[in-house]
This record gives sequence, structure tokens and C-alpha cells, in this order.
Amino acid sequence: FAVEYHDSIGSTNDRARELATDGASDVVVLADEQTGGRGRLERAWSAPSGGVWASLVCRPNVPPTRAPLYTLAAAVATTRAAREAGVDARIKWPNDVVVPLEDDESARPYRKLAGILTEMEGETDRVTWLVVGIGVNANVDAAALPPEATSVREEVGDVDRRVFVQRLLEEFDAQRNALESVVDSWREHALTIGAHVRVDRADGEVVGTAVDIDDAGALIVETDDGEQTVSAGDCEHVR
Ligand code: BTN
Repeated sequence: FAVEYHDSIGSTNDRARELATDGASDVVVLADEQTGGRGRLERAWSAPSGGVWASLVCRPNVPPTRAPLYTLAAAVATTRAAREAGVDARIKWPNDVVVPLEDDESARPYRKLAGILTEMEGETDRVTWLVVGIGVNANVDAAALPPEATSVREEVGDVDRRVFVQRLLEEFDAQRNALESVVDSWREHALTIGAHVRVDRADGEVVGTAVDIDDAGALIVETDDGEQTVSAGDCEHVR
């Protein structure tokens, strides 16, 4: 990946989209700070100085149905980079990287370390470009983040961001070259499998025990009315 670095930018995803529409590939846009960071579901994303705010541009030769695998690959890569930095990072479906809270009585048994926002353009048979936006709360004070968030600094102290990004990119590259094993790698780090979950989706909520994800990354939940497969939604682990 070629690197484009900014001290401060609105959103690395916006810049990556510009590069993607101009035909770029295998570029990563990095920033120390974002002033208009974007999260999933139209939410704002706090991105103070000291984080790893990264957007990867790629042009994989796959149909759009395979695009979610790149998001899972990014979650695996981020989790592995964080684990190498000493953080007990796990994946919460579909692609949040969280740190479990062991002996905590709070309703939400984890804090969020990183999130991923993938955007794409494509035709029916082929992806034109993908922008995989990865936000890792690295060397930032937890006080500068939302209450449900944590940071690498908070968990284990500061990391060398160059090393972190290097590991993340190497791992992402390995995952995208072995797409058939991404789901297995994802399972290896999943906190959600076996957890009691509540998934909010457009047509109501699904409550039950998460038993697995399928080949496309959809969550399989065992509910009182049998198994349900959820392909998108907001997932919370409940006690
Ligand atoms: C989420 O809602 O969990 C996804 C958060 C994604 C944040 C990253 S930070 C780098 C990239 N640029 C953005 O504006 N968003 C993503």
C-alpha cells in the first residue's frame, strides 16, 4: 500500500473515495486527527489526535456479494495488530473490535477499541472500488472518547503507530489473498459466538444466543422461535 498521510483531515474515508473515483488502488490514507470522522449508520466518529485513522482503497476483482469479506478481513487484521500490542482485543459482530470487561456488572460487557466503515462502488457482477475505513483508538485518552469506548493507551499504554499500521496492513493483505479462510479467522477472534445478543435491525429486533456466522458473514441466532440469520444490524451483547 502506498501511504498518503495528513496531520488533520475531515474524514480519511472521504479522501479515499476521491482517490478511488480517480482510479487509485492499494493506497492507504492515514491521519493523526479527523475533524469529521464518520461511523456506521450515519453516526459521527470521534477521531482526536493520536489515533490510527486509516482508509484503504482497493479494487478487488470480485462480485459485490463478496465485499463483506473485506470488512471481516479488516476486523481480523485490526484485532491481530491490537493483540500484538498486548490488548485483549476480540471481534463483536459484524466488525467492531472490543475489549471484554471481565468482572464488570455493567449491562454492556465490553468497551469498543476500533470500528470499521466500508464503502463501495460496483456493478452487478463486479466491485469497482472498496474503501475500508478503520478507526483504532490508539494513543488517545479515554476521556476524549465516548463512554463505551476504550483505547490502546487506556489498556496497555501507547503503541508505535507505524508498527501498528504496518502489522495491520500486512495482515489485511494476507487475509485478502486467502478470502476463503477469512470467516474461520474471524471465528477464531469472535467474542459474539456463544454470546447472548440483541440485534436491532430495520424490521425489529432479534434476541437469542449467537451460534455462528455463515459464509457471507451473516450472524446465526438461536431464538425462542428457532434459528434466524441476520445479515445486517446493530448487535449488543446482553447478560
Ligand atoms: C463504526 O461506526 O464503528 C465505524 C467507525 C469507522 C471510523 C473510521 S476512522 C477512519 C475512517 N474515516 C472515517 O471517517 N471513518 C473511518
